[in-house]
Amino acid sequence: MSDIEKLENDLVVRIDAASTEAALEEVRVAALGKKGVVSERMKTLGKMSPEERKEMGPALNGLKTRIAEAIDAKKAMLEEAALDARLALERVDVTLPATALPKGKIHPVSQAFEEIAAIFSAMGFDIAEGPDIEDDFHNFTALNFPPDHPAREMHDTFFFEPKEDGSRQVLRTHTSPVQIRTMMSQKPPIRIIIPGRTFRCDSDQTHTPMFHQVEGLVIDRETHMGHLKGTLEAFAKAFFEVDNVGTRFRPHFFPFTEPSAEMDIQYERVGEEVRFGQGSDWMEILGCGMVHPNVLKNCGLDPDEYQGFAFGMGVDRLAMLKYGIPDLRDFFAADARWLEHYGFDPLDQPNLATGLSR
Ligand code: PHE
Repeated sequence: MSDIEKLENDLVVRIDAASTEAALEEVRVAALGKKGVVSERMKTLGKMSPEERKEMGPALNGLKTRIAEAIDAKKAMLEEAALDARLALERVDVTLPATALPKGKIHPVSQAFEEIAAIFSAMGFDIAEGPDIEDDFHNFTALNFPPDHPAREMHDTFFFEPKEDGSRQVLRTHTSPVQIRTMMSQKPPIRIIIPGRTFRCDSDQTHTPMFHQVEGLVIDRETHMGHLKGTLEAFAKAFFEVDNVGTRFRPHFFPFTEPSAEMDIQYERVGEEVRFGQGSDWMEILGCGMVHPNVLKNCGLDPDEYQGFAFGMGVDRLAMLKYGIPDLRDFFAADARWLEHYGFDPLDQPNLATGLSR
């Protein structure tokens, strides 16, 4: 065997043995690189006699071409194998059941919103929404807060810098301004709930500067306090998933309702657990009342023709009570482990037929 043949055999063995693109590149440099064995051999052509060169030239050129081709062929093979491996690895089996896939959790506040919406939509309520940034008119004045009334400050309101005309926008302190927006844009009968974010400058174990409310509003010709009680009692039973729950309506004051009340529900503490619908303790869960005639007038409705009721509840607290979550601030800590523990299955949509929360 000539030494060119030997060199070729040797290189072909090394090319065959290269199992990665990096290893193959090493062989290429060792053979065809500037200082590679084949390149070094090519350089010797210059010093040969014309006869020698006539023989060795084609032989070496042939060697160089065949080695380059062998390397290219092997490279194509390795690339194809790498692609096949990647396709096999990244393959998605579309026939797998969805529950086998890792998935996120629904935040307890979102879950509570969904449950509340399921309950009220079964009673024929629509959902209405409004802006987080409100003006004084919708957040206070139209809701019958007298001008310069201390209640504006009592709400721990976040005010924006005054505009040129002196008016100040606010972060809405409750969802009640959406009552006004709805009554000014729709004709009764009105039956809506208003889920949303609300803001007050307050922060401790049971208060966060941003929190969530669901407001309710019913306006019709003959809607009365009995409808309010019946609706809210039905809500309490459905939300806490008990057959019966005692309720108590305590007189209260809100500028926008008359009469006004706070609703308490019956509960008992058993160890760490709070059980609703039994025992002899009372827990306040919402504010409510008959819409004040001034509010109706402010929205262009005739109080001699229309009347109705409104209510507002704090969703974060309801979620804590129902799901047994001890600290409010954890709701907004964005802790994935907490959410993994307290969150809900995104594929279990709350509905009254199969149960609200499972
Ligand atoms: N807006 C009141 C609050 O935030 C709650 C409420 C709403 C009370 C509707 C009565 C009627 O405290």
